[in-house]
Amino acid sequence: MIKVLLTGASGQLGYSLIKTKPANINLITPDRDELDLRKPKDCFNKILNIKPDWILNCAAYTSVDLAELNPEICFKINRDAPKYFAKALKITGGNLIQISTDYVFNGSQNYPYLTNQIKTPINIYGQSKAEGENEIQKEMNNLKNYYILRTSWLMGEKGKNFASNIINLLSKKEKIEVVSDQFGSPTTTTSLSKVIWELISKDTVIKKYNLNKFPIYHWSDQGSSSWYELALEIYSIGLKIGLIEKNKIINPIKSSEYKTDAKRPFFSILDCNSTQKLLNIERVPWKKSLHQMLLEKLKEKNLNN
Ligand SMILES: NC(=O)c1ccc[n+]([C@@H]2O[C@H](COP(=O)([O-])OP(=O)(O)OC[C@H]3O[C@@H](n4cnc5c(N)ncnc54)[C@H](OP(=O)(O)O)[C@@H]3O)[C@@H](O)[C@H]2O)c1
Repeated sequence: MIKVLLTGASGQLGYSLIKTKPANINLITPDRDELDLRKPKDCFNKILNIKPDWILNCAAYTSVDLAELNPEICFKINRDAPKYFAKALKITGGNLIQISTDYVFNGSQNYPYLTNQIKTPINIYGQSKAEGENEIQKEMNNLKNYYILRTSWLMGEKGKNFASNIINLLSKKEKIEVVSDQFGSPTTTTSLSKVIWELISKDTVIKKYNLNKFPIYHWSDQGSSSWYELALEIYSIGLKIGLIEKNKIINPIKSSEYKTDAKRPFFSILDCNSTQKLLNIERVPWKKSLHQMLLEKLKEKNLNN
């Protein structure tokens, strides 16, 4: 059995990883009382005791706007904790998968971001995640036993995300407005989980043939969208499957008309080619993946009623 320690098990990605766990994985899922990422040095000591073969670091300070108001805690969780995970794994010999984000880029280009492009974050969350990546690379670069896996616009059937927000809003309001000038690739937690388990399963071969020379990877579902187009698709699927009950109106607005504490990149599409080549897996079109996820959400809703 492979001993994998999953942080962020109560989050939306954690939920999918638990649901899709392969049989040969012994998954340890400490909650924040057992492993608090605000206390990186405690995390270091706990990893020395547990000695996992892998850490899947899915825990993060993910409130992009609140991060602007609480930078200190955000940097502790998103930069310092991964650094101490890396320090501990250097001693125990374990591997790390660090989940990172499209928000490490500023969004000022109009073609997909390559894995080796310079990071140019424009908000505290993006900066803290970028620095988390840097710290891991500083600690572990000679060992190459880490993968930094960036993803974008993540949504799962459990937890808080853009899809659950839209469904909630549409259950309360007749009309909503959604930003139409920011573009990205919607991605479901199920798609990303598949890639994560695949990385672990192929790691021995990857190492044998020295394929992890540049350990930064991108993964999103296939295609791209604006938040507005995504909201329309959530609405259309939701109406069809009975998650949303009656006709509502969604209007497009510009980012300049929707003030938030944190700046958002206008374009954050990730080039996933190198990851696709490495793992030899197909990317699912985002609308198909979203449909599947909303069906799962409906199932959960029916189970809880
Ligand atoms: N959501 C997106 O659109 C998106 C996009 C790109 C990349 N990502 C990255 O994907 C990863 C997974 O995100 P997600 O959407 O699954 O996040 P999420 O649903 O917001 O869950 C965050 C998880 O982190 C845990 N956590 C927060 N502070 C902690 C602390 N001090 N100690 C221990 N655990 C703590 C939370 O635990 P509690 O339940 O105890 O709070 C929760 O389990 C993150 O690395 C995120 O940066 C997300």
